[in-house]
Amino acid sequence: MKTAEYAAFPPSTMLNPTPVVLISCADRMHPERRNLVTAAWAGTVNSEPPMVSVSLRKERYSHGLIADSGEFVVNLADEKMCRAVDFCGVRSGRDLDKAEMTGLRYRTAEGMSIAPAVEGAPVSLSCRVRQIIPLGSHDLFLGEVAGVSVRKDLLDERGGLHLERAHLIAYNHGLYQKLGEVMGFFGWSVAREEVLRKRMALLRREENANGDRRRKP
Ligand SMILES: Cc1cc2nc3c(=O)[nH]c(=O)nc-3n(C[C@H](O)[C@H](O)[C@H](O)COP(=O)(O)O)c2cc1C
Repeated sequence: MKTAEYAAFPPSTMLNPTPVVLISCADRMHPERRNLVTAAWAGTVNSEPPMVSVSLRKERYSHGLIADSGEFVVNLADEKMCRAVDFCGVRSGRDLDKAEMTGLRYRTAEGMSIAPAVEGAPVSLSCRVRQIIPLGSHDLFLGEVAGVSVRKDLLDERGGLHLERAHLIAYNHGLYQKLGEVMGFFGWSVAREEVLRKRMALLRREENANGDRRRKP
């Protein structure tokens, strides 16, 4: 097989794809003033306690709101939210009400005093700020997850979560992309043949049903 050729790029944040999420937050002094900000620099950083990180530039309106209130909500984004996600990443809440402009609505978030969640988001993680770490261009907000809400249509009859039904989007070097087909599951490379066949058949059936649902207007 021919070996691939490579071009050297200057050091940069080339880690792709990343999640792209809508962070919702509120003003501590005026809790009715709420805001949405798009973040692609968000990640999972610890399991116990569950913690996530979001990196925000100091000049973002949301930066001050979150630093001051100590709360934020990470809302996972699906295909239907893609346009709003972009809008919330190119306009500032200092200048306009992004919920009003995008048609997104807020709802009460699990375990938060003032930070709201986004109505319709597949999953929302309520976070309490544990640390703010200045890194340079961005400050990293370490958030401990205080509560999670999951849209009920993503649960099966036994309460199992099917995020593969959520049509989540990813951010890939400047582009918003849909997630593609399921290729495997955790541990599939070492699963017994019979387990692998059964589980993949289930996933394919699920995927086809999902495709049918998606085609409906
Ligand atoms: C796809 C996308 C991802 C973004 N990711 C981040 C991010 O991780 N951190 C950040 O500080 N800004 C990020 N931004 C920019 C902010 O969302 C943008 O500056 C926004 O207008 C700030 O809103 P605010 O002033 O209301 O807080 C991103 C924008 C887009 C479109």
